[in-house]
Amino acid sequence: MRGWRVGLMIAALIVAAAEGFLPARAADPAQVLKERLATMKAINQAMREIKVYSGKGDFAKVLPAAQKVADLTAAIPGLSPEGSHTGKTRIKPEVWKNFGHYKELSGNSVQEAKKLIQAAGKKDRAAVLKAFSDLANSCTACHEPYRVPKKGD
Ligand code: HEC
Repeated sequence: MRGWRVGLMIAALIVAAAEGFLPARAADPAQVLKERLATMKAINQAMREIKVYSGKGDFAKVLPAAQKVADLTAAIPGLSPEGSHTGKTRIKPEVWKNFGHYKELSGNSVQEAKKLIQAAGKKDRAAVLKAFSDLANSCTACHEPYRVPKKGD
């Protein structure tokens, strides 16, 4: 192949990438799904720890777990790109009709986790229990509209 033809091909590829015909980074729905589920499981694990430690009044251990929930719930929209509802997933395609709302719900969970961090910082048991319950409700607030239910939910 002559040099100018290679040059033209490269130019065409650059244009295609710039126009979005080629993904900027490899969009692998299976990988995104795996990360989303692993993140949700990690959130769930942190919630269990919070429940145990707040029951024991061990607020020093509630803090890092609540911080983890804040960080991970903030990551949910980024782990829910359009088209990532293939395979063994319960995410509803409605997410991409209302992505603004979905982001808002993720933000609400982050806010509730931050309130929990504050309450744990003050070692205020009643406030910790209230914040934990509000945080758990913020999970349901997103699962109800955007996750396909299964037995036990
Ligand atoms: C902004 C929306 C949103 C918020 C907030 C949210 N989730 Fe989820 N969660 C989802 C969606 C969507 C799924 C389904 C994911 C899938 O199957 O692809 C899910 C799935 C899960 C699962 C099941 C994972 C699996 O392996 O099937 C658990 C457990 C979970 N979430 C826990 C939580 C907890 C605990 C919180 C709150 C601290 C929370 N989630 C907050 C949207 C959310």
